[in-house]
Amino acid sequence: MSTCAASIWGAQFLSPSLHAQQPAPPPEPPAFTGPGTTTKLTLTVNGQAHDLEVDTRTTLLDALREHLSLTGSKKGCDHGQCGACTVLVGGRRIVSCLALAAMHQGKEITTIEGLGTSEKMHPMQSAFVKHDGFQCGYCTPGQICSALAMLGEIKAGIPSHVTTDLTEHPPFTPAEIRERMSGNICRCGAYSNIHAAITEIEKEGVL
Ligand code: FES
Ligand code: FES
Repeated sequence: MSTCAASIWGAQFLSPSLHAQQPAPPPEPPAFTGPGTTTKLTLTVNGQAHDLEVDTRTTLLDALREHLSLTGSKKGCDHGQCGACTVLVGGRRIVSCLALAAMHQGKEITTIEGLGTSEKMHPMQSAFVKHDGFQCGYCTPGQICSALAMLGEIKAGIPSHVTTDLTEHPPFTPAEIRERMSGNICRCGAYSNIHAAITEIEKEGVL
């Protein structure tokens, strides 16, 4: 290569001053200082306000189970895949394992414990008992919370993946119910009985 060509194509790489122009290495990440920062918050669960101080990373599920001893909501996968942790927030269902507790201050949270008691069950709980909608029961709190919100979603006219006519109010068909409950896994396979319980509640119009 001629001197001329080197000056055109390679001068920058040959220049000793280049090293001084290299981008600075990325800054070191902040040192891990053990448990995360804590935050104070008030969670309103089943109509009762609870003052808590939790790690900012605490999920709503862990806040309910580990800090408030409300163990009805279950941890199945902790990844938003099974629905066992479903609770109601302002009447809408969410998987509490994917929600940060700190984001739910001031919201109305309802867990299975807030729906009924063994002496005075919620109609959906009674229907699950009547139709044997469970075996081990691990998924059941999530199924019941989810079913309640799901019926509300159909009533509100919210379409699902299987709603064929988006100009009409979605129907209470078995396909709609199955699709809308598909986020709640039952390892015992009590699906047909769960479906029967939900269908009865919908038909009786008790909600
Ligand atoms: Fe939350 Fe499985 S534990 S979806
Ligand atoms: Fe056992 Fe559903 S009743 S997982």
